[in-house]
Amino acid sequence: MADIVIIGGCGHVGLPLGLAFAKAGQEVVALDIDAGKVAQTNEGHMPFVDKGADELLLEVLKKGRFRATTDPALIRTAKIVITVIGTPLDEHLNPRLEVYRDLISKDRSHLSPGQLLVLRSTVYPGTTERVARELAQAGFDVDVAFCPERVAQGVALEEIHSLPQIVSGTTPRAEERASELFRLLTDDVIVLPTVAAELTKLYNNAWRYIQFAVANQFYMIANDYGLDFYEIHRAMTEKYPRARGFPKAGFAAGPCLFKDTIQLSSFHQNSFFLGHAAMLVNEGLPNYIVRRAAAKYDLRSLTVGILGMTFKPDCDDPRDSLSYKLKKTLAFEAKEVLCADPYLERPWILSAEEVIRRSGLVFIGTPHSEYKSLDFRGKPVIDVWNAIPGGISSL
Ligand SMILES: NC(=O)c1ccc[n+]([C@@H]2O[C@H](COP(=O)([O-])OP(=O)(O)OC[C@H]3O[C@@H](n4cnc5c(N)ncnc54)[C@H](O)[C@@H]3O)[C@@H](O)[C@H]2O)c1
Repeated sequence: MADIVIIGGCGHVGLPLGLAFAKAGQEVVALDIDAGKVAQTNEGHMPFVDKGADELLLEVLKKGRFRATTDPALIRTAKIVITVIGTPLDEHLNPRLEVYRDLISKDRSHLSPGQLLVLRSTVYPGTTERVARELAQAGFDVDVAFCPERVAQGVALEEIHSLPQIVSGTTPRAEERASELFRLLTDDVIVLPTVAAELTKLYNNAWRYIQFAVANQFYMIANDYGLDFYEIHRAMTEKYPRARGFPKAGFAAGPCLFKDTIQLSSFHQNSFFLGHAAMLVNEGLPNYIVRRAAAKYDLRSLTVGILGMTFKPDCDDPRDSLSYKLKKTLAFEAKEVLCADPYLERPWILSAEEVIRRSGLVFIGTPHSEYKSLDFRGKPVIDVWNAIPGGISSL
């Protein structure tokens, strides 16, 4: 028996959420198709970095409040089922609308009457109502809710408690049960209709993606006019409250922001012009940097290094990282490309020291904190983020 089963429970969202509910006194089962992650989690090792999760995982395993499994039959044993599987785009940038249909048709035989089914993935608007309708038509008596996850990767456990929880249900009872569930984590619950809740999540991510695009475009404009973007950035933001939060330039990447901007665009008949413009700017930044670097350095004769391959600093996740795009572009333009990242183990990942020693020019792909104190041996370091002392941020 369990209070809560989380489908996708060993993922970046599912696992911290499960740990948080276990800490709040619930008996939680994390169901996942990845047997490797399930085994690792049951042995008390987090499959990825999340602040504070290593200790909490051990604590809740020891108390018997949390376990991971690959057995979908356990879905039946819980009062509440939460789904947090990935919702990626396809190769043509369309939302994969079939992901939830497939999940529900595969796992629905394990649902039992009276359960609360909470969708926690970021979904295409209308998905929640559709899931509820299909289950009802097939004779399943379950309450269906949508409660999106809004944490930042790497600090999920902290943010689960500090952010308000968005709650929606396809019926008043589903809404009430979902509110009660998330009140276990916080008193701050915002209730919305399902499509409004689905849009809230997409708006949050698209807004952030656009903000990064504005900074990146301003960066390119300043550069193209031979000006220092960070001098302007400082002038814009210093003691100027209305520019508070204006981001620095850098790669806007990862598995969520781009994907959710495109989901929103698809929902709005591909006429989300701001979102598309943001995509062109953000996805174009690696090419821009290489083009500007090629005008200053003879890349064809140089071994170049990239420090940082994950999608953001101090994180171990390489999904949709723009450092890979930088690597591909440099592989075409430069003599040789070497890569380093302290969070990744791959045959082609070297130590930062070796990359610096063997490279004539270094690019910061991801400004991990530890790079700030590296000895770059006097090598030029291209750093659009303006994060590394002595780095070149104006190209
Ligand atoms: N990563 C984030 O920081 C973040 C933040 C907010 C929202 N989200 C959203 O949450 C969702 C999940 O993202 P994620 O980053 O946790 O993905 P993830 O890939 O890290 O986790 C998904 C997990 O689901 C498992 N899985 C896939 N299909 C399954 C199935 N049929 N049955 C059981 N398990 C299955 C996978 O093995 C994986 O462990 C996405 O919709 C994403 O947009 C992610």
